[in-house]
Amino acid sequence: MENNHTIQSDTERGLSADPKFLLPRYLYDEKGSRIFQQIMEMPEYYLTRCEMEIFTQQKENISRSFICDGSPFDLIELGSGDGLKTKVLLHYLTRKKACYRFFPVDISKRINDDLVRQLKREIPGLYTRALNGDYFLMMKELNKISKNRKVILFLGSNIGNFSDDEVNLFYHNIHQVLNPGDMVLTGFDLKKSPAVIMNAYHDPHGLTRDFNLNLLVRLNRELGADFDTTCFEQHTEYNPVSGDVKSFLVSVKKQEAEIRMLKKVFYFRKWEPVFMERSRKFDLKIISRLAGENGFRIETNFTDEKEYFMDSLWIKQDKNITL
Ligand code: AVJ
Repeated sequence: MENNHTIQSDTERGLSADPKFLLPRYLYDEKGSRIFQQIMEMPEYYLTRCEMEIFTQQKENISRSFICDGSPFDLIELGSGDGLKTKVLLHYLTRKKACYRFFPVDISKRINDDLVRQLKREIPGLYTRALNGDYFLMMKELNKISKNRKVILFLGSNIGNFSDDEVNLFYHNIHQVLNPGDMVLTGFDLKKSPAVIMNAYHDPHGLTRDFNLNLLVRLNRELGADFDTTCFEQHTEYNPVSGDVKSFLVSVKKQEAEIRMLKKVFYFRKWEPVFMERSRKFDLKIISRLAGENGFRIETNFTDEKEYFMDSLWIKQDKNITL
């Protein structure tokens, strides 16, 4: 989450570790973002459609909570991507003449600038500005230029990528940049039948494999590596106790890969796994605990019909209430 991490240093650290790992944030180069779009279109990948259902069916209630006492607010989306779900809310808020501005924050300048250009065309009169860079640096910048109430969006169960420590650090940082009464809406994928989850991740169309292998292709290109992508296979597991979906590339033979920019050779044992990504599933007990431990109160939990997904709206508590 800090700035001094680069694809170079993170790759060196991950491939020197035992067990080996790579970081999911590097999956989203241009090709990776396109593959993720395809994943979202798979009939088995229910997450996007469930959250879209929540936004479409419950936009009145969600918007009413955001509008609150009617004071002007800044709506800030972290990791906005194509903004498809958010647009549903933006259209509605604007129609209801809500007094707000929209700030998408993304590390990918291209995608973010595209979104803003599109929004200016689609929703005339909406004040929107792209903030490109690190989530928390950008929010601090925004705090300097705006005293408005804040509503933060972190959708799509992107939170599922984080380890326990990272989740707590994330909410701790958010808590620090917010004032009491400010809100955060997080999309959580919920625990459900393991079969349904495995269907979405254990690769019915080979797209999860392509998504992960694309990171090796990226390392070949950007760091001068020589990974042979035909010598790794995809494996996914789900642990219904922890709620972790874990995705791996497994080396099908003893092999080595040189990364020229690191001036290093990395060795892979036969059947050695590389941990690629966690996609954690949550339940209400965990969500309530996360809110409480981090100084927030749950205002409303929005779920879809099947209760596969939850958008949980939290309000930052006054200091003296949390103590
Ligand atoms: C973008 C992190 C929410 O974990 O479901 C989808 C990424 N990885 N299939 C998820 C992903 C494999 C996705 N997130």
